Amino acid sequence: MRIAIAGATGNIGTLTRTALEEAGHVVVPLSRSLGIDLTTGDGLDAALSGVDAVVDVTNSTATDPDEVVARFGAMTRNLLDAEARAGVPHHVLLSIAGVDRVTGNAHYAGKREQERLVRTGAVPWTIVPATQFHDFAAMVTSWTERDGAATIAPLLVQPIAPADVADVLAEVAVGEPEGDYRDVAGPEPQDLVDMARRTHQAQGRSVTLVPTWSGLFGAEMAGDVLLPRPEARIAPTTFEEWLTSQRAT
Ligand SMILES: NC(=O)c1ccc[n+]([C@@H]2O[C@H](COP(=O)([O-])OP(=O)(O)OC[C@H]3O[C@@H](n4cnc5c(N)ncnc54)[C@H](OP(=O)(O)O)[C@@H]3O)[C@@H](O)[C@H]2O)c1
Repeated sequence: MRIAIAGATGNIGTLTRTALEEAGHVVVPLSRSLGIDLTTGDGLDAALSGVDAVVDVTNSTATDPDEVVARFGAMTRNLLDAEARAGVPHHVLLSIAGVDRVTGNAHYAGKREQERLVRTGAVPWTIVPATQFHDFAAMVTSWTERDGAATIAPLLVQPIAPADVADVLAEVAVGEPEGDYRDVAGPEPQDLVDMARRTHQAQGRSVTLVPTWSGLFGAEMAGDVLLPRPEARIAPTTFEEWLTSQRAT
């Protein structure tokens, strides 16, 4: 099959591309660095010609809620419009488990806007909600790390290996549209502060962690809200196994 990946050069996009190509599919990679900016949509019509499915794993780094919603909204609209013109029969969106249970987080507002546009759009779809990735803790502390200290919210998560997310997306992309997919999660719940400490230790780095609910993740994300629903699809790779694989690279 011929599968386009919007965000093909990113963390999940790169791994999804590998998974699809190893299974014998042809990947059409889309990203700004490859000449396609989804916020304008220029070049999309030609790129999507003959494509059997589109996997959207784009991201937005904006932190202002209106800006994130506008950016994710424009990218999703342009992508879906071009898919409809090209007759693409399946749009796959990577979302986040629990986006509908959290209010007040800018990134989550953007993801809800993506989901809304996909659900109400003309292209048959599958939305795959994944829990936080195994590299999430280190990413979060990197945002605030200064002079050997970083803030971090003490979130309860059930993280998943990026490669496991990619395998699920590659499988879903070559199947029929399913609408809302089950939550996809890793095998064990974890405390985000502990994940950050273990990641830094594995990297041989010393970072003082300051737990707080005053950063990008507020108290509305405390408790069980980020954990997967009971019917979730559980991926195999534990956080510890992933850490070990990172040490080896
Ligand atoms: N991190 C987590 O724990 C987690 C958990 C669940 C779900 N997710 C979701 O997973 C998705 C992917 O995350 P990721 O970490 O793989 O993202 P990432 O590494 O930041 O990659 C984002 C990709 O999007 C492309 N992109 C960004 N803006 C674009 C634009 N205007 N036009 C075309 N391409 C554009 C980037 O390439 P260029 O810069 O070259 O354009 C890159 O290929 C996100 O939507 C996130 O919400 C994340």
